[in-house]
Amino acid sequence: MSQSLTTVVYLGAAILFILSLGGLSNPETSRRGNLYGIIGMTLAVLATIFGPRVSAAGIPWILVALVIGASIGLYAAKVVKMTQMPELVALMHSLVGLAACLVGFASYVDTSIQYEGAEKVIHDVEIYIGILIGAVTFSGSLIAFGKLSGKIGGKPLLLPARHWLNLIALLVVIWYGREFIRVDSVADGMLPLAVMTVLALLFGIHMVMAIGGADMPVVVSMLNSYSGWAAAATGFMLSNDLLIVTGALVGSSGAILSYIMCNAMNRNFISVIAGGFGSGGGKPAAKADGGAAEPQGEVSPVSATETAEMLREAKNVIIVPGYGMAVAQAQHTVFEITRTLREKGVNVRFGIHPVAGRMPGHMNVLLAEAKVPYDIVFEMDELNEDFPDTDVAMVIGANDIVNPAAQDDPTSPIAGMPVLEVWKARTSIVMKRSMASGYAGVDNPLFYKDNNRMLFGDAKKMLDEILVALKS
Ligand code: TAP
Repeated sequence: MSQSLTTVVYLGAAILFILSLGGLSNPETSRRGNLYGIIGMTLAVLATIFGPRVSAAGIPWILVALVIGASIGLYAAKVVKMTQMPELVALMHSLVGLAACLVGFASYVDTSIQYEGAEKVIHDVEIYIGILIGAVTFSGSLIAFGKLSGKIGGKPLLLPARHWLNLIALLVVIWYGREFIRVDSVADGMLPLAVMTVLALLFGIHMVMAIGGADMPVVVSMLNSYSGWAAAATGFMLSNDLLIVTGALVGSSGAILSYIMCNAMNRNFISVIAGGFGSGGGKPAAKADGGAAEPQGEVSPVSATETAEMLREAKNVIIVPGYGMAVAQAQHTVFEITRTLREKGVNVRFGIHPVAGRMPGHMNVLLAEAKVPYDIVFEMDELNEDFPDTDVAMVIGANDIVNPAAQDDPTSPIAGMPVLEVWKARTSIVMKRSMASGYAGVDNPLFYKDNNRMLFGDAKKMLDEILVALKS
């Protein structure tokens, strides 16, 4: 394939990626968005393999690598449960970071092209920054994977003088960067490069370890952004325009997502990155690993049959789904209940918190999969004012996102985070298996409110029972 044809295909792929991002911003157009992305990526891969930069002798190697990589990817995508998706995404981000590091080292030791003067400086800076971003993304994403999968506790690790440690590491990285650019031979450049890589890896670990459970959404989107910049850096090192454009698209959309997440959590981005929020250190915090919360009074349990009775008699119902609905895979029963109630004339709507579940848009994806109509699914801000006119607010496996302590208790680790005000409904019903706290490890005073009922049990099992009772 000639260089000009490759460029045209790259341009087409870049346009498809932009259309893909546009499509993915709305559940109704997301399938189309995904399709654009798949076509764009297929074109990009084909144009790269058969383009002028790959020799015929290299193609079999690339094809073998493609088959191995695609098989692992297909297998992972097939076996991964919906609730494990965020972990998988974190792991994939780490691979982008690792690729940037490996490409950086490979470009450095590759002496087939000799750079001189300003060109050499630019090439060295690309390598240094590419490996720096790649290493931070790699180790940070691995820790995020550990935290999201529960292998590492959610409690932030706050080292003494951590900001000073970060500052010193930054200064050392800058110093060695200067050394790296000054030296002429590859052998002399290896030491600064290796020191910087180790420091960047440690910084990635330290940065994510210092972030508390409740702020993980920001970390997920931030690492998403980093992986984009790491890919863009790889594009610079390989002089591949499409990789630069694609990396910049991912990097900037990840940055926008981080901004949205910060707004949703009412957090300042810099403070989140500095760490320490969501520490479970305030009152009334329970165990950060989701252990049992401190009892704060009496709770009023309710049965599935009684819940069905309340729903049947209600005029307005708001359903608030959370992570537990994803765990129980209860979305299809939720849809059946919604349909049954709507047929009986009950106004059923869904209230979605921006950080419900474990990944951006988690609940929207589940509800769309169960074919819940989009026009009854609302963002938190769109219906928070409607709770006082609501007869029943049914909370399905959600906890942190309906915690009134976020508004009432300034010492709470989630203080200031906007929440769905379900307690303002005539009756709220919380469906969960126990009194355990949510991801942020914070006790929930909602459970003890007079107008709240607790429906204990697995969400799918409870909803099945409610559905049977509603239909009988
Ligand atoms: P959580 O606060 O984590 O609460 C989920 C609740 O579901 C738990 O208290 C659990 O209680 C219950 N549950 C688990 N399995 C269940 C099952 N099979 N049946 C019924 N209930 C079940 O979830 P949330 O309210 O959706 O809030 C999300 C949290 O995750 C926030 O703190 C957010 O910051 C964090 N987070 C979000 C993201 C993104 S991007 N959305 C990423 C990382 C972290 P039991 O064990 O008692 O059943």
